[in-house]
Amino acid sequence: MDEKRKIVVTSALPYANGDIHLGHLVEYVQTDFWVRFQKLRGHECIYVCADDTHGTPVMIRARKEGIAPEDLIARMHAIHLKDFTDFQVAFDNYYTTNSPENKAFSEQVFAAMEKSGGITKKTSPQLYCEHCKMFLPDRFVKGTCPKCGAEGQYGDSCDHCGSTYGAEELVSPKCTTCGGTPVVRDSEHLYFELEPQHAYLEKWIPAHTTSDVSNKLLEWFAEPLRGWCISRDAPYFGFEIPGHKDKFFYVWVDAPIGYLASLKNWCERNGQKFEDWWQNPSVERYHFIGKDIIRFHCLFWPGMLHVAGFEQPNKIFVHGFLTVNGEKMSKSKGTFVNARTYLDNLPPEALRYYYAAKLGGTTDDMDLNLADFVQRVNSDLVGKITNIASRGGQMLQKRLEGRLGRLDEEGRALIQKCRDASETIAKFYEDRRFNQVIVEICRLADAANEYFDRREPWKTVKIDAETTRTTLTAALNAFRLIAIYLKPILPAYADKAMKLFGEAEWNWASLNETREACALGQYEYLASRIETAQVDAMIAAAKVKPGESGEVSHESRASKNKGKEGTDGDSGAPTPQPTDVPSLKAEIAFPDFEKLDLRVGVVESCEIVPKSSKLLKVVLDAGGLGKRTIFSGIRGAYPDPAALVGKEVVFVANLAPRKMSVGVSEGMILFAGTPGVGGGVVSPVSAAGAGAAVT
Ligand code: MSP
Ligand code: ZN
Repeated sequence: MDEKRKIVVTSALPYANGDIHLGHLVEYVQTDFWVRFQKLRGHECIYVCADDTHGTPVMIRARKEGIAPEDLIARMHAIHLKDFTDFQVAFDNYYTTNSPENKAFSEQVFAAMEKSGGITKKTSPQLYCEHCKMFLPDRFVKGTCPKCGAEGQYGDSCDHCGSTYGAEELVSPKCTTCGGTPVVRDSEHLYFELEPQHAYLEKWIPAHTTSDVSNKLLEWFAEPLRGWCISRDAPYFGFEIPGHKDKFFYVWVDAPIGYLASLKNWCERNGQKFEDWWQNPSVERYHFIGKDIIRFHCLFWPGMLHVAGFEQPNKIFVHGFLTVNGEKMSKSKGTFVNARTYLDNLPPEALRYYYAAKLGGTTDDMDLNLADFVQRVNSDLVGKITNIASRGGQMLQKRLEGRLGRLDEEGRALIQKCRDASETIAKFYEDRRFNQVIVEICRLADAANEYFDRREPWKTVKIDAETTRTTLTAALNAFRLIAIYLKPILPAYADKAMKLFGEAEWNWASLNETREACALGQYEYLASRIETAQVDAMIAAAKVKPGESGEVSHESRASKNKGKEGTDGDSGAPTPQPTDVPSLKAEIAFPDFEKLDLRVGVVESCEIVPKSSKLLKVVLDAGGLGKRTIFSGIRGAYPDPAALVGKEVVFVANLAPRKMSVGVSEGMILFAGTPGVGGGVVSPVSAAGAGAAVT
């Protein structure tokens, strides 16, 4: 095993204005698996998090409840922490962004931004509600889409036609809080310019994220990076910007800084120095986040840390979104389940086990299929794994005075098999491939059950107590090792198992021990079957009848992965940027498809575009259409552009020419993500095709 590591781990800070739900738990539970694994291995691993408290929604909700925002966030903090604790998510510190540490760090970072010359000012027209006395963030205004005329659309984009626009472009806009008609007012805002860090970030991103994440982000680097609007007008629940009266830090500025603040607060309470953790190059730092907030963590955040002279995270671990029964969570279907509603009906272990069984450490979405959930928990966790302990433990206690014996050769072979898996399992944990951890564990449980059944202890117990004792000693020792492997995923379960063996602490080295010729503790139930009726009751409790509560809440849009860019639901970007994630676009009808004029052309020349890391300049012989020059963002996939010369490719011939900084692109070539797969370069664009969408 490697030497003792020092590691700081974070999960994204949940918004204080909503409840924790099963989607959130995908993140907190997997972070917890990883942190507990590191601790089990003997590393010093600190897991910090906090409530993300600032922004308009908290302010509005507190107003509606007639309380101070501070009271609202205190209440939510307690509720969140209880939910996490009951799900066995063990933070070393669960803090708040509304803290003195966070204020100080935010001011420090901002001062560094100003000093670096990275802060600019721009005035832009914005909607202002004279009744509510506030500028309206995009999600706080609704009106008619200026492009297609659909009614009831938010201020950032139209759900109906998909176009994006500024809120002030909406036709007959209405304030969602009071229903009044807002007016247009100019307001001056502060922008954090990222272009000075263009080269730095272009290098940083691919080194700290996986390629699917970085490919998408790097598309923006073909052009100058746009500034990021970091101020909001009063009234705003947040930190006022020093030297800029009535301007507040946009919530997404102080939210990630909240990681530093929570760590600092942990240090203060534990006699440690912040610098020894965050500013120490020998400490590893990791952020676990969902794919909807990539831009904030992989672009703005490293940009902020860089100008302010802070160390960077070593890696950003990005996970996908939760779907339930193959669809996005829905309040009307009852699949938008809060943590508490789940806990009222089902045991936390079941969800932790199922999530582990499904999480592979990728950005793919993860499905909670409720029938599969019941089946997997019952057949694997209960029927396969726990069964070894319950059959063996109860027989030993009832029939053999609860005393373990010695292993025979066959028993030793079984235990060795379990031990031999340790480094494989450790590697899967380290790589966050928890699904593979579960596969390995089930394989070992199968071997233990197979051993148990072959030795037929229920028969031998009648005639040969000592042989039976030998059998049960092997089965129970195999279970013991399996329970140690499971400890990061099922900590409470493992603690009960540990007590069964009369031990005080388990760590990775405990795998080398064997429990022989000693007493077994009292067998306590470890996990019980779950019933479909419990799931049905949970869904019924979660179901919101039409009109009962806002389907359009911040969370329900969150699962749509849109409008989820801040508590305000506005990205803070002056103009819309592409969405963060390579996910499927909305379904199109055949007439939409028919509009594409797809032709075959032959690559006449293909060369690297100087100063661009991703563009290739392709000249096509387009037959009757003559020659076409197309800039294609696929250089990463074709390191040797010359190899494309002479190939036939499919291209969109009627795409409007697009002026790019490097020239005019006259169409789009359809490349597959991986060259050579599917019979060469001519194949349809893969959904995640490297930059296929930008040519
Ligand atoms: N407050 C911001 C994060 C600030 S971090 C400096 C935020 N909060 S959130 O409550 O909306 O989400 C918290 C985390 O939960 C995010 O990483 C988000 O991706 C994740 N999830 C929220 N809903 C989710 C699903 N339905 N599925 C999987 N993860 C989800 O974003
Ligand atoms: Zn209003």
